[in-house]
Amino acid sequence: RTIAVLNGPNLNLLGTREPHLYGTATLADVEDLCRRTADTLGFDVDFRQTNHEGTLVDSVHELRCSASGFVINAAAYTHTSVALHDALATVAAPVVEVHLTNVHAREEFRHRSFVAPVATAVIAGCGPAGYEFAVRHLAALATHTDT
Ligand code: DQA
Repeated sequence: RTIAVLNGPNLNLLGTREPHLYGTATLADVEDLCRRTADTLGFDVDFRQTNHEGTLVDSVHELRCSASGFVINAAAYTHTSVALHDALATVAAPVVEVHLTNVHAREEFRHRSFVAPVATAVIAGCGPAGYEFAVRHLAALATHTDT
């Protein structure tokens, strides 16, 4: 059983990118946190990052029938991508939208999310721990659905 963790543009720079906002943990640290959390719950993690909108859409297509759930930090594409919204709308498994920062306390253009309407849950402002919470939530949902 696999939980997909998808990351959008500029998150590859985590740790050095605006650390006053995003902190000093790297994306490798976030991946490690997701893997360790999933491992204790009996899940594998398929962890990906891309700077390209179409690649993000392709990943959703590739995993839409196999993943037990999706954690997605679409970064800037959260606020712009109808294509990602439409791709996620085809996914039967639960989707948790994650943001490191509290996007609602930031610029107006970050208040709108094209992911949220097709998400089961939204976590914003918890830093990397938000990914851990999302993995735990998806694992619990998948475990309760299994017979
Ligand atoms: C982000 C918030 C987005 O508004 C921004 O474009 C990002 C990161 C976050 O994790 O806080 O790149 O998704």
